[in-house]
Amino acid sequence: MSTPAAPTRIIIDTDPGIDDAMAIIYALASPELEVVGLTTVFGNAHVDTCTDNAIRILDIAGRHDIPVAQGAGRPMAQPYRGPADYVHGVNGLADAPLPAPSRAPHPLDAAHFIIDQVLAAPGEITLVPVGPLTNIALAMLLRPDLPEHLAGMVIMGGNAFVPGNASPAAEANIINDPEAADIVFGADCPIVMCGLDVTERTVMTSAQIASINDIDNDRARLAAAILPFYRDFHVSRGGPDGIHVHDSTCISYLIAPHLYGVQHHPVRVDCGQGVGRGKTWPSLRHSLATGPWGNRRNVAILTEVDGPAAVALELERLAR
Ligand code: BDR
Ligand code: CA
Repeated sequence: MSTPAAPTRIIIDTDPGIDDAMAIIYALASPELEVVGLTTVFGNAHVDTCTDNAIRILDIAGRHDIPVAQGAGRPMAQPYRGPADYVHGVNGLADAPLPAPSRAPHPLDAAHFIIDQVLAAPGEITLVPVGPLTNIALAMLLRPDLPEHLAGMVIMGGNAFVPGNASPAAEANIINDPEAADIVFGADCPIVMCGLDVTERTVMTSAQIASINDIDNDRARLAAAILPFYRDFHVSRGGPDGIHVHDSTCISYLIAPHLYGVQHHPVRVDCGQGVGRGKTWPSLRHSLATGPWGNRRNVAILTEVDGPAAVALELERLAR
């Protein structure tokens, strides 16, 4: 009899956020993964709110053992664009009435927490950033050798071959800190980009969201309380009758990579001040992978997805 593989050890860097909450509870219900910690960043809400929410989510899941380290409150080289309360609610979690967080965050800031955890277990930790990439870039600036000690990164962010969702050019997490994103996509470690190319082709329908009401556990009750707000945003913008599954795509990829198709290209991020700011640019021609793209290793860009299977997997884990 074969012994089960050791779980992949992950740190989720997050700005909860409705879809962030979904990704966190999905990861916690997946035995293939061990959540070593959560680190928080500004994005969908101010970082203090995101930290409170991260702790609240762990409280609901009964995981008081998982540390939460608070990170950056603003981008590296631009002002914070402000909370996306029309997407996620003023409290970041659909304005659901949630209990106060049970504890204070970890004494270390996110960048130092990441560095400590990674160096304590070289080659073991996979970073799963699902918000602006500020904390990861800061950790890399503090420890330029950090990537060589990582198992890799699975990032929700960017758009390779489809339009942006925060501007015609750019995806929200990347436009929130393009300079940080360009540093991170240049890291010398395996990187998977879970961008809009696949997340907008992964739709949890309104009927599936309604079906969560039938699941009898606290994680599902949280999901049922917050997802309708996110669905209403999508519908108001002419989107699907349901939601695009953004942050949870990283978790689905980690536990079921066979559901995805991949292209391998080096990636740069537009850090100019023009209309293309925040666009993730893959270099598609090998012969042109020089100049600004030179000396960058390929990023595994997800370009194909079995969306219904990914959503079914997430819902199955929610019911566990
Ligand atoms: C990303 O932006 C945020 O609003 C979501 O949480 C997700 O991480 C999608 O573009
Ligand atoms: Ca997010």
